[in-house]
Amino acid sequence: MDIRVEDLYVRFATLSGDIEAVNHVDLTFSQDQITGLIGESGSGKSVLGLTIMGLLQSNATVEGRIFLGERELISLSEKDLCAIRGREIALVAQNPATSLNPSQKVGRQIEEVFRLAGEGKVDSTRRTHELLERMGFSDSERVMHSYPFELSGGMCQRILTAIAVAAHPRWIIADEPTKGLDAVVRNQVYDTFCMVKEQYNVSLIVITHDLLLARKFCDQIVVLYSGRVLEINTAQAIFNNPRHPYTQGLIASLPHLGMRPMPGFSAAFTDQPSGCVFHPRCPYIDEDCRKIEPKLIPVEEGSVRCHRYS
Ligand SMILES: Nc1ncnc2c1ncn2[C@@H]1O[C@H](COP(=O)(O)OP(=O)(O)O)[C@@H](O)[C@H]1O
Ligand code: SF4
Ligand SMILES: [Mg+2]
Repeated sequence: MDIRVEDLYVRFATLSGDIEAVNHVDLTFSQDQITGLIGESGSGKSVLGLTIMGLLQSNATVEGRIFLGERELISLSEKDLCAIRGREIALVAQNPATSLNPSQKVGRQIEEVFRLAGEGKVDSTRRTHELLERMGFSDSERVMHSYPFELSGGMCQRILTAIAVAAHPRWIIADEPTKGLDAVVRNQVYDTFCMVKEQYNVSLIVITHDLLLARKFCDQIVVLYSGRVLEINTAQAIFNNPRHPYTQGLIASLPHLGMRPMPGFSAAFTDQPSGCVFHPRCPYIDEDCRKIEPKLIPVEEGSVRCHRYS
């Protein structure tokens, strides 16, 4: 069951005025593909994930539609959304340290998901053991009886993923699953998600600014900038033939490709550039770029928001 986002805007009321953190986003997350959402910090990746989950803060206004199969999620009541959250779409939130309950052993936190689904105590414990073993914990007994602070960041990340998987959702949205982890642990997290996808038949959206993770793990990549989609394509096309000047800049900043940092910063949401939102940083800017906002233009398998391709 695909997730289809149509004409989505998310606005936040702030003391400095309204900001549009998600701006006219139209895209489909295909159930058969792992989609990566990439972009610099503040580009709207987490907000998009939270909007799909219906978990935005109260100063947000949402316009547009999000379909899970035939069901439209934005118009659902909180009660109906609760039935979808966790069971159909689960979020592995950005910060494992704050997302786990610090005062409860992690085994109890996973068991609770099985208990809520109607399993008895003995079965919940047995299934928690099995799940932890599948997650690559060879000492599941010890892990079950640990508090989050007794485990490493990478282990907590895998526990959060286990909690998401325990409810057998169709979709998992993983927000920055490798943030703050070293290379070895990043690979373990990557292996865990590969296992989850294969064995639990879960569809995945991975929010990340770890481009190497995105390249290794994702089939489709969506490049976000200032709340807008600037490019969508297969991971192969994004990395081998990036079309948008912003995507080109991101790829060129990778360590093994020259580590050339992109000049400038994305503009504040309260002071967005006219025309193309990327124009103040673009090496190819011309007069139209300052005046006319480019549309998403189809290119081979994907699309790109830049006048150079029209
Ligand atoms: N509740 C909120 N109120 C005001 N601004 C918010 C709120 N939540 C997020 N934002 C802003 O929305 C923008 C996008 O944030 P986010 O999606 O978290 O970025 P990222 O791409 O790093 O995940 C940021 O400028 C952030 O400060
Ligand atoms: S529309 Fe113009 S400013 Fe924007 S990315 Fe393309 S060339 Fe650069
Ligand atoms: Mg984020």
